[in-house]
Amino acid sequence: MAHQRSDDNVRSKVVLVVGGTSGIGLVTARRLVDEGARVAVCSRSEERVSAVAAELGHGTLGLPGDIRDAADMQRVVAACLAEHGRLDAVVTTAQVMAYGTLEEVPPETFAAVHDVAVLGTLTLARTVLPVFRAQGGGSLVIVGSLLAEIAVPSLGAYCTAKWAQLCLARTLQLETRRERGIHVSVVAPGAIDTPIYAQAATFAGHGGSAPPPVLAPDHVARAIVRVLDCPRRLVHVGPANWLSVIGFRLMPGVYDRLAPLLVRRVVLRGPRVAATLGNVVDPQTSLEGPRGGWTWYGRRRR
Ligand SMILES: NC(=O)c1ccc[n+]([C@@H]2O[C@H](COP(=O)([O-])OP(=O)(O)OC[C@H]3O[C@@H](n4cnc5c(N)ncnc54)[C@H](OP(=O)(O)O)[C@@H]3O)[C@@H](O)[C@H]2O)c1
Repeated sequence: MAHQRSDDNVRSKVVLVVGGTSGIGLVTARRLVDEGARVAVCSRSEERVSAVAAELGHGTLGLPGDIRDAADMQRVVAACLAEHGRLDAVVTTAQVMAYGTLEEVPPETFAAVHDVAVLGTLTLARTVLPVFRAQGGGSLVIVGSLLAEIAVPSLGAYCTAKWAQLCLARTLQLETRRERGIHVSVVAPGAIDTPIYAQAATFAGHGGSAPPPVLAPDHVARAIVRVLDCPRRLVHVGPANWLSVIGFRLMPGVYDRLAPLLVRRVVLRGPRVAATLGNVVDPQTSLEGPRGGWTWYGRRRR
């Protein structure tokens, strides 16, 4: 499947971005609109999807829906089909995150993080793959993470969810590989400057910070648009991704010494905060936006 070109370029495509109201999803939706695609954005808040659709303009649809809810995804996809008559590509950037050790994060929060990554991605795939099949093709892009290939202390809920999501995506690739015109790609970013760090739940006693090197979300948006035109099994975005994966796999002794230090000194270095559910249960629309305010070095922009 790698490097196989899909038939049309992005300009002529109808693309749904689930998670398209913040961070990577929002920047991707904006880029797609700029390149001439017809775009729909979906996330949980009706007010937020309407505001983003209006801001993006060019007929962008704002469709509220929870990726974990099959009826919601059916309704969202039906709305795209009713408006445009087809749906060429679907991107999911929907995710929530929780800080805390595996003992600190409450089981229901752990389950909610997994539900978005695993059940949500599966629900979306089950909704869109039959549509792609019926219309003779389509592309599903799943935004995973570098953390789907390494373990990080105090990020266990998120890491295990992203590992499972990657396995789900790879399984979907295997199960659809003989189907002409159907593509499933994974884009795996390292740290990206988005609101995800501020939106996360925390039970670690501290809020999270983006660990350097932190890239702008535009880098990921470009990679997503590229895989829409030219599907790929797995594309990493981040200068430190391969170094981290190699360290984790080939030098576990060194990795195990450095990772807890990095988490204490960098990831959880912020002031003490009370436990919070962040956006795990309900959206926090006031925190959503294209960027999170982090520099390349993982410092807060003034
Ligand atoms: N930022 C990073 O450093 C980074 C690094 C590696 C991978 N990633 C991955 O990149 C993707 C995008 O992350 P981001 O940083 O752009 O995060 P973000 O700014 O927090 O955006 C997440 C989006 O997902 C939506 N969402 C959350 N739960 C949802 C649900 N149940 N149903 C539908 N939409 C839902 C949010 O909207 P509502 O809350 O309003 O529903 C929001 O639009 C995620 O898969 C994340 O794991 C991010």
